[in-house]
Amino acid sequence: MAAMICFAVLLFKIQLSFGIEVIELPFYSWETQKDLNAQRDAYAIIMAAFSSRSAYERLAYMTDAFGPRLSGSTALELALNWTKEEILNDGLYVQEEPVKVPYWVRGSEYATLRSPRIKNVRIAGLGGSIGTPNGKPLVAKVLVVSSFDELESMKSEVEGRIVVYNEEYKGYSTTLEYRLTGAQRAEKYGAVAALVRSVCPFGLQTVHTGSSNTASIPTAAITKEDAQMFSRMQARGQDIEIELYMEAHTLPDQMSRNLIVEIKGEKEPEEVIVLGGHMDSWDIADGAMDDGAGAYVCWECEHGVPCGSLKTLDPRIGDYANNPCLGYSNPPYPEPDSMLNAYFWYHHTEADSIDKLSPEQLQHCAAALAVWTFSIANLQSLLPRFNNY
Ligand SMILES: *[C@@H]1O[C@H](CO)[C@@H](O)[C@H](O)[C@H]1NC(C)=O
Repeated sequence: MAAMICFAVLLFKIQLSFGIEVIELPFYSWETQKDLNAQRDAYAIIMAAFSSRSAYERLAYMTDAFGPRLSGSTALELALNWTKEEILNDGLYVQEEPVKVPYWVRGSEYATLRSPRIKNVRIAGLGGSIGTPNGKPLVAKVLVVSSFDELESMKSEVEGRIVVYNEEYKGYSTTLEYRLTGAQRAEKYGAVAALVRSVCPFGLQTVHTGSSNTASIPTAAITKEDAQMFSRMQARGQDIEIELYMEAHTLPDQMSRNLIVEIKGEKEPEEVIVLGGHMDSWDIADGAMDDGAGAYVCWECEHGVPCGSLKTLDPRIGDYANNPCLGYSNPPYPEPDSMLNAYFWYHHTEADSIDKLSPEQLQHCAAALAVWTFSIANLQSLLPRFNNY
């Protein structure tokens, strides 16, 4: 659900008209004319990327104007409409490809610690979660586990409890498993809900939402701080009781769109390079970093790529389930995501807003992506193909 609408962006001609200075790099001997040409082109692309602030300015406008853009929401459609208009204003042709997207709705939600003291517990229902039964709050004792192994070893105590996962963060892709499968695993042993410590390296009382696998009990993220406190309370033998209320539910899939901009190559137009990013964001986040930035950096490549010898560039956006990107050359791709080491501090939170990014960061990303794209476009051979695509 995080990444439904990829937005495909564009690569454009630029005139290589500025004075190009060839820099000697110390670790590389520029022996051939080809090397020198490549260096000159890369330099021109980098200069072009650093002469424009439009990725940042457009992203700031889009995130301020439309805010969170969950798949299925009107805000996403408005943001797509605005983006399409801006691409047209750039003089490009945009195709719209209908795509079906899931539509999950959070509704109201809260959690309150009732014992051993009263405290508001910040939560963010996980995408795909159901609400609490019968539209009512549920109240239950808590069992804290720090791992799936611990859940297994305590399974006889799970019945009727809210399971809290206080898992250590060991990198996003590893720790993600708790958010995805925590509820499913807890419900097997009779839990009434699952609260999962936010998947993040660092917290300032931030809750990080995200998708979770289908389960028949409600599930939400809690802060790193609260998860750790519940662990301490349990270790002291204190009884922990929480009241949880969630209205989350899933509505029928909605129609949305991919925006596709194709720039035909001159020499080998039948060979295609695909760039793209998704336009949707979580419903609590303005989505400047996830995504927004990825899509808009692709768009920004328009300022940087000279098309003289390019293969066709097909900035195309698809959803993950039915991703047209994968039907093409399936190139390895750089991750604009790492534009900030702190990416996962903000990921899927209310704090993912434009103030966390700077124009310079987006310029660096656009430069890297444009040079990479240009280099791939000029390779003599195709990139390796994998049979599973
Ligand atoms: C997006 O633009 C189309 C075409 O102009 C329009 O029909 C549609 O209503 C717009 N979407 C929203 C949510 O306003």
